[in-house]
Amino acid sequence: MSTDEAVRFWDDVYAARPAATDPRPNARLTETLADLPPGDVLDLGCGAGGDALWLARRGWRVTAVDVSSVAVERLTSLAVSHGLADRITARRHDLRESFPEGEFDVVCAHYLHTPLDLDRAAVLRRAAHALRPGGRLLVVDHGSTAPWSWNQDPDVRYPAPREVAADIGLDPAAWTVERADSPRRVATGPDGRTAEVTDHVLIVRRTA
Ligand SMILES: C[S@@+](CC[C@H](N)C(=O)[O-])C[C@H]1O[C@@H](n2cnc3c(N)ncnc32)[C@H](O)[C@@H]1O
Repeated sequence: MSTDEAVRFWDDVYAARPAATDPRPNARLTETLADLPPGDVLDLGCGAGGDALWLARRGWRVTAVDVSSVAVERLTSLAVSHGLADRITARRHDLRESFPEGEFDVVCAHYLHTPLDLDRAAVLRRAAHALRPGGRLLVVDHGSTAPWSWNQDPDVRYPAPREVAADIGLDPAAWTVERADSPRRVATGPDGRTAEVTDHVLIVRRTA
């Protein structure tokens, strides 16, 4: 699967949805970072950009990346229209091929799921190495299939947070698992429908 095909797939997903004027942030992100002082954050697979906007409003300097040009262009416009352009840098990266430069206090990967080839463990390992000492990697995965999800495969399996941590394979001398659980919440889909869903939440902290 080439980068062009990945771009096309995800561009089609976003182009089929109207551009949101103020997309919502991820509930796990807001509960995790609400009390942390702002710093540098990297958002992997930023999608519609609700997380980047929420973070920038709270003073974080945000690098947001996505393989989809549509997603990146929409977030760039939103950053300007919300007066946050000085805090949000949105860039297109195919994380299979390139990774943003820099060191971060937080790296987040929310629902970084794709039907296309992606060595997620390698991307998340790279993300953990891009953390400053004390920094956190926040991985929020689906733990169940929402009725509006693009992936309705009945055989889909969602690895538990501890399995995701084991796949990343970080040295326990330098990274520690701070949270690994599967909370439930009521989610609202793009068409306004609601449903109870499970998230798989993993937080890894760099200690050295
Ligand atoms: C399920 S969406 C989640 C979007 C957003 N983080 C959220 O929580 O709504 C997965 C995102 O990962 C992006 N993505 C998929 N494969 C990627 C890759 N190889 N490199 C960078 N981004 C990728 C997609 O374009 C899409 O925006």
